[in-house]
Amino acid sequence: MPSSPPADFAGTSLELSAPQMRALLDAVRDRIVEHVASLPSQPAADVEGAAALARELFEAEAPEAGIPSGEILDLLFDRAIPKSFNTAGPGYLAYIPGGGVFASAVADLISDATNRYVGVWQAAPALVQLETNVIRWLCGIVGLPAGSGGYLATGGSLATFTAIVAARREKLPADFLKGTLYVSDQTHHAISKAASLAGFPPENVRSIPSDGRFRVRVDLLAERIAADREAGFAPFFVCGNAGTTNTGAVDDLGALADLCARERLWLHADGAYGGFFLLTARGRETMAGIGRADSVVLDPHKGLFLPYGTGALLVRDAQVLRRAHAAGADYLPHMQEDPGFVDYCEISPELSRAFRGLRVWLPLKLHGLGAFRRNLDEKLDLALHAAEELRKMPGVEIVAEPQLSVVAFRLVRPGLDGEALNRLNRDLIARINARQRIHISGTVLDGAFVLRICVLSFRTHLPRLEEGLEDIRASLAES
Ligand SMILES: Cc1ncc(COP(=O)(O)O)c(C=O)c1O
Repeated sequence: MPSSPPADFAGTSLELSAPQMRALLDAVRDRIVEHVASLPSQPAADVEGAAALARELFEAEAPEAGIPSGEILDLLFDRAIPKSFNTAGPGYLAYIPGGGVFASAVADLISDATNRYVGVWQAAPALVQLETNVIRWLCGIVGLPAGSGGYLATGGSLATFTAIVAARREKLPADFLKGTLYVSDQTHHAISKAASLAGFPPENVRSIPSDGRFRVRVDLLAERIAADREAGFAPFFVCGNAGTTNTGAVDDLGALADLCARERLWLHADGAYGGFFLLTARGRETMAGIGRADSVVLDPHKGLFLPYGTGALLVRDAQVLRRAHAAGADYLPHMQEDPGFVDYCEISPELSRAFRGLRVWLPLKLHGLGAFRRNLDEKLDLALHAAEELRKMPGVEIVAEPQLSVVAFRLVRPGLDGEALNRLNRDLIARINARQRIHISGTVLDGAFVLRICVLSFRTHLPRLEEGLEDIRASLAES
């Protein structure tokens, strides 16, 4: 239990005194440190009773007078937070983990407590510049040339939306409904969702089959583009996968870049999951060609292990974002003309915005890129190790070998197929997760339900993976 005195504010003004601020920070600090230190011993997921709690909290009215802070922290740390997937813990191997490096939380506290305005450059030049530095670092990691730029969004989905809007504006007339976009049957649904938000009918998004390694069939893509042109459509946007969510598959980005150059199409690379593996030698080899893309999405809240809420859109030519977003008003200050200075409201959808730059900048400055590189290399090794161990387990079929840090597998049984086999595998995943040391998720590949392990938390190391493999062996024995 925390030892700090309670900080209570019922009936006080909204302005806290210095002692009150300290008391509140002390109380919160103790709870946070206790929570983070206990992450490894917390269940990998525990949502039993969470629905009832959610209903109870939802029905509570806003109090007219304040509630003691201790009561509120108890509710959060003792009741609400434990009843969730432990997405910050080492056993979280489901969907796409990230972890949430602590330095980013500290950065958020600093940005929110100082509350500087970073929508326009003039309001906080050095802070805006610090975010621009982050973008320059990210462009360097991807290998984009001088003149590239971008901005930090709330996540991959919003970053993708802006990429499509920018591409639409560059490549299509104002009446753009003949415009067609190309994804693979493995592409994340964020792309078709963003296309729909950008005004395209769902059928304008063409899904191209992938090969046996879940990489887009570039030959079929070329055929479909030709057929669409023939039919009077206006192909303009190709999304290449730099790590799919299902299996971590990486498309042949070099071949896609050649095709897009030939056909004068916008090449977008979705590196929301996989992009930061570019920090490793293996990742750079797997994703060769990504630096030729017109736009790239990276998700620092995945591959840089940041807390949720930070995506990045990078573009080859920074001016395309300005052309898509610039919208002045008399009450705004003069915008920057120096190419080194950016007004983020001119190149992105938001005017008022959180100071996302600091939550990326601080951990990179504090730990150095090397720490992230080593962690990412370790994740690649762990996924290979998981595949090796799974291969030895009787009845287990590896459906997708790791190309990055995802391995997909399933249990097969002679005479069992279709829905019956899918049911067996759904039961298997439930058994594994019920042990609460790891939490994994499933997906469907070519109609077959498969289990997938995605190693991407900086807190996941070999001992936890071994525990998970033990649980998989034990669950297989019960299946
Ligand atoms: C490959 C890929 N693209 C896009 C997204 C969407 O990103 P976000 O969840 O940050 O909006 C995800 C999310 O998991 C993803 O894995």
